[in-house]
Amino acid sequence: MAKPAIYVARLLVAPVMAAIHERFELTLEPNASPPARDTLAQGLRRAEAIIPTLTERIDATLLQEAPRLKVIANHAVGYNNIDLPAATARGIVVTNTPDVLTDATADLTWALLLAVARRITEGYRLVQTGAWTGWEPTQLLGADVSGQTLGIVGMGRIGQAVARRAMGFGMTVLYASRTSVPSPDSMAPWRQVTLETLLRQSDFISLHVPLTPDTHHLIGGKAFSLMRPAAILLNTSRGPVVDEAALAAALNDGRLAGAGLDVYEEEPKIHPGLLALPQVVTLPHLGSATLNTRVRMGVLCVENVLAVLEGRPAPNRVV
Ligand code: DGY
Repeated sequence: MAKPAIYVARLLVAPVMAAIHERFELTLEPNASPPARDTLAQGLRRAEAIIPTLTERIDATLLQEAPRLKVIANHAVGYNNIDLPAATARGIVVTNTPDVLTDATADLTWALLLAVARRITEGYRLVQTGAWTGWEPTQLLGADVSGQTLGIVGMGRIGQAVARRAMGFGMTVLYASRTSVPSPDSMAPWRQVTLETLLRQSDFISLHVPLTPDTHHLIGGKAFSLMRPAAILLNTSRGPVVDEAALAAALNDGRLAGAGLDVYEEEPKIHPGLLALPQVVTLPHLGSATLNTRVRMGVLCVENVLAVLEGRPAPNRVV
């Protein structure tokens, strides 16, 4: 029996590619780099399914060139790269990869939090460049983490996983979210507050909202004016949630102390004002980048595609 035709936009990890080759006929062999729009259109022309990643914008014009497409299994939990109304209008199912990347992304958020607070990258550079001349009582003094207040904007799966880790550091957790979420430990309650209160009272502010028209530039000039000068901002959600130019200006003016960023407004470009600052730690969108996580994300995409093509409900249907 002929295998269903699938277009996989980027080369995924080897075990996932093996599973895909076994079950599907690829309309094009993927590369490691993002496909040009023409390639994307060519890959989609015969495909019944596509596995895009967050770097591929799947819009209405492109979908017109995909007459056989039944399912878009996005290789990410966020799906702001897909025009959902256009997909729905064509009866195409869209799925994502929740849960499997929660811990990896929460761990990376904490890596950034600790790196900025304790000036890890500055210390690393000092040693690596041979500029370290020995212990000094006033060298690279950082910020306390234990016992401080962590504010979480968006208390979904990843926000909650970040909050659970904060309990090990004896932190007070504030959160701003549409729904209320109880703390797993009644001795260490999480307090739901308005975004304004969170920005005013938190030592660390970590963003975990999806990118939507409502959250675009949610953290901009006004938000920075409310933060404590000692506050540290962390973003492992989506770049455009933060106004990067306003962030660079606020850091330069001392309206906040530092930032840990994994995502950017126009990846892979980063506002030059942010690259110049030692108190900003920048990573190349590594939130879900562990081998196990990427295998689990890929497996979930394959399961969702098979479900739709076999007429079963997709386990991770978004629309
Ligand atoms: C996601 O799934 O949205 C992540 O950003 C991918 O790494």
